[in-house]
Amino acid sequence: MTETFGIYQGKITPLSEIKVSPLSRAYTFSDSIYEVIPFYKGKGFCFNEHISRFYECANRMGIKVDFNLVENEILALCEYVKKEDQSYVYYQISRGIDEIRSHLVKNKMVPERFGYATKIIPSTKPLVSMIVDDIRWKRCSIKSTSLLGNVMSMNLALDEGCDEIIFSHEDKITEGGASNVFFSKDGEIFTPSLKENILPGVTRDFFINALRSENILVKEQDCCVSQLDQASTIWFTSSTKGVQPVEKIVNASYVRDNNDEAFKTSRLIFNQSIKDYLSKT
Ligand code: PDD
Repeated sequence: MTETFGIYQGKITPLSEIKVSPLSRAYTFSDSIYEVIPFYKGKGFCFNEHISRFYECANRMGIKVDFNLVENEILALCEYVKKEDQSYVYYQISRGIDEIRSHLVKNKMVPERFGYATKIIPSTKPLVSMIVDDIRWKRCSIKSTSLLGNVMSMNLALDEGCDEIIFSHEDKITEGGASNVFFSKDGEIFTPSLKENILPGVTRDFFINALRSENILVKEQDCCVSQLDQASTIWFTSSTKGVQPVEKIVNASYVRDNNDEAFKTSRLIFNQSIKDYLSKT
């Protein structure tokens, strides 16, 4: 197996050699944000969009960090996986390391920068999902490492044979455990709007724009759980999944229509748009 390389405070080493203080606020409070940036043979996909979201999240958290440094470190990590067809860089910024654990941040802190690069092995396994109550906090648009609600719910679903979950809040769909949700019905495509408590997915946005340029409009609106039963296809989007259809929902009567043109066409457009994007960069 090839070695995975990581970076911590600017120093690149094998991932296994990185040592972090237990008083890192990432460790004690999840006081940290992260990005997952996909690369195709070393070419960043929507790199600027990922950096913009990261920057926005850092601002909202009041974490001050040099983003030129962040960008350069992500690109340096990508060098280690540039031969891979698909890879990603995980990169995390924490507020810093406390002298002794304290909720209150009284002194200016030096942010901690940590990341690693690894290849993606695209999954061809049909996805099984489960609808679960969205137990998360109210600031899910921040890409924070505080993912306990996601992790607990996803692992309960894993026990039922599921790969991903669909969160719902007051009967409305929000998003997946680590992805955004779309579905088609009667030839139309729907996704929960960003006013729901969800992450503004970079892949979600790319997908919607790719379809728009082919005059296919995605309806970003309130989506009820009951609509999923009548959906022709339900799918997830994310930087690591791309576009992946759901075969089965263990607690709903959704039956996937394998001849659904709306899904087939939109996936083709998405895949072609990625190719076009990469050929231009
Ligand atoms: N997750 N919603 C949630 C809760 C996510 O964690 C993610 C991505 C997305 C999709 O965002 P994007 O298209 O920008 O990847 C939506 C990443 C991949 C992760 O946590 O590993």
